[in-house]
Amino acid sequence: MNRTKNIHVSDTAFVTCGFRRLNEALSGDSYAKLWYNSKAEIILKDYLAAVSTEEINTHCIRNRFFLETIKTVVKENKIEVLINFGAGFSMYPFLLSEKLLHIEIDKPELVKHKSKKIQQWVKDYKLPARKINFIGIDFSEKYENQLRQELKEFVGEKKCFILIEGVLFFLNTNEINRLFSLFNTIQSIGDYIGSVSYTHNIKTTDAYTRLIKYATQGVKDASNDGFQTIEHEFYKTLKNYKLINHQDYFSCSEVYNNQPKCEKTNILNEHFYILKKQK
Ligand SMILES: C[S@@+](CC[C@H](N)C(=O)[O-])C[C@H]1O[C@@H](n2cnc3c(N)ncnc32)[C@H](O)[C@@H]1O
Repeated sequence: MNRTKNIHVSDTAFVTCGFRRLNEALSGDSYAKLWYNSKAEIILKDYLAAVSTEEINTHCIRNRFFLETIKTVVKENKIEVLINFGAGFSMYPFLLSEKLLHIEIDKPELVKHKSKKIQQWVKDYKLPARKINFIGIDFSEKYENQLRQELKEFVGEKKCFILIEGVLFFLNTNEINRLFSLFNTIQSIGDYIGSVSYTHNIKTTDAYTRLIKYATQGVKDASNDGFQTIEHEFYKTLKNYKLINHQDYFSCSEVYNNQPKCEKTNILNEHFYILKKQK
């Protein structure tokens, strides 16, 4: 097969959103289709053939799980702000109540493109207006002080939900630890984190072997020592947080009426964690 080369980490955002478009009923994301683009479509098809055809539904289920979880906490008045780290082209602001404030953080070039497109689509009545602040940051750089300052300005004392979805795999251990210690310093008791990662035992699957081959050949700008897997223990022992919900592709498939099609070894099973700040 003629493999797609020179994929940038930001292209993965187009591809993820392409998956959500391909099963709107399962993802619950009726706006993902706005991001259709022909380069991403070639990468998407190549990736599905090379790694796993189940990747459409694994991504749809992930989005659906966080969408429903966030909808519930908004309804219960438990959060006022959603801070999405590595937000890519996710469309949560438009799928959730208009009373929510959104902070979307990603690489500078990505947020620049996203904010421009969103502005235009709102003007053209393709999207409803929402309160979104975009912040351009690279998690491999020293960003903590500047980000803390910006979040203080935008979020203040408001109750928040931090989402980090489809990102940790691309970072290294040091970058992951820095992010979670930042979360601890900006959140208050009762605030939430939603996180996604693979566990170490994914390495025994055929799909993971293909994913690593694909990622090392194709993705050009992942962090050094990237491609992380994380054990449940990391979340269970995270200082000042309690793990209050843990799901994965298979458990959520039962809830959202999805029948996995591939054999287990050909599925990249992601785990979804909800943590609540205790102190
Ligand atoms: C697979 S996409 C997931 C996007 C979105 N969270 C979703 O689920 O649709 C990964 C995202 O992480 C962002 N990302 C990866 N490494 C990053 C870094 N070092 N700094 C900032 N953002 C990063 C990419 O730009 C991309 O938008």
